[in-house]
Amino acid sequence: MSEHNRGEREALCQAPVGVFDSGVGGLTVAREIMRNLPEERIVYFGDTARVPYGSKSKDTVIRYSRQIIRFLKTQGVKAIVIACNTASALALEEVEKELDLPILGVLKPGARVAAKTTRNKKIGVIGTESTINSHMYDRFIQAQDPEISVYGKACPLFVPLVEEGWLKDPVTEEVARRYLDELMHQGIDSLILGCTHYPLLRSLLRRITGESVTLVNPAYETAKELESLLKEKGLANPGGGTDGADRYQFFVSDAADKFKHFANSILPYDIETTKKINIEEF
Ligand code: DGL
Repeated sequence: MSEHNRGEREALCQAPVGVFDSGVGGLTVAREIMRNLPEERIVYFGDTARVPYGSKSKDTVIRYSRQIIRFLKTQGVKAIVIACNTASALALEEVEKELDLPILGVLKPGARVAAKTTRNKKIGVIGTESTINSHMYDRFIQAQDPEISVYGKACPLFVPLVEEGWLKDPVTEEVARRYLDELMHQGIDSLILGCTHYPLLRSLLRRITGESVTLVNPAYETAKELESLLKEKGLANPGGGTDGADRYQFFVSDAADKFKHFANSILPYDIETTKKINIEEF
């Protein structure tokens, strides 16, 4: 490799990974990337003006995802993670055909680990209405093992309850009991937390399912899969690039202060600035 090419490759490796979600939920995925790939820089976009995606149509979620990808490309990202189950279910297949960068969603990694985890071949999936109705988790799980039965349940009240901060509230517990009742009756032994907000309800859900059900958080597996993908493409950041405030950048389409407040309650460090942009311009 010539000196010039080596320089270009190094610059590319030091470019950030673009991570996007409909709002704050994808921070649970960003958090796993920060923990597992500490050398990687991140540009995060939360579509706080147009959240929720979970009740929107496929066409709309594809249009939003395309705009966000165009914005992330202006930030010079080297790869993209769709840190949103709904957008991964509805838009990934479409946008990856058009993109010249590696892109990853959260569904396949989650499905893969759940298929490995289950012993009795009965997996529950909880998520937004759009994710559950898309049956994409079922498809990915059954591609791993067609004998596995998948039981989906949409839990639309969880997102507002989490955003309200009612992570351990008795009201949330009662709602969760009602949602999970059906799945527990099916005798599932693994439960995919198929929405970015749900890992924040982990301890409450654990009380309801008991220890015999494995809770699968796709965010962790997504970070691992990102690590393999970057290595395979020769794009992993060897470190030594920017650090501190520059390492992670946050953009939103609305309510930057509210986003910052939520982010600071779940990320392992305090974010200082969140920039608001007009995503409709992209
Ligand atoms: N981030 C979304 C997901 O993982 C949940 C919030 C929404 O409905 O936009 O499906």
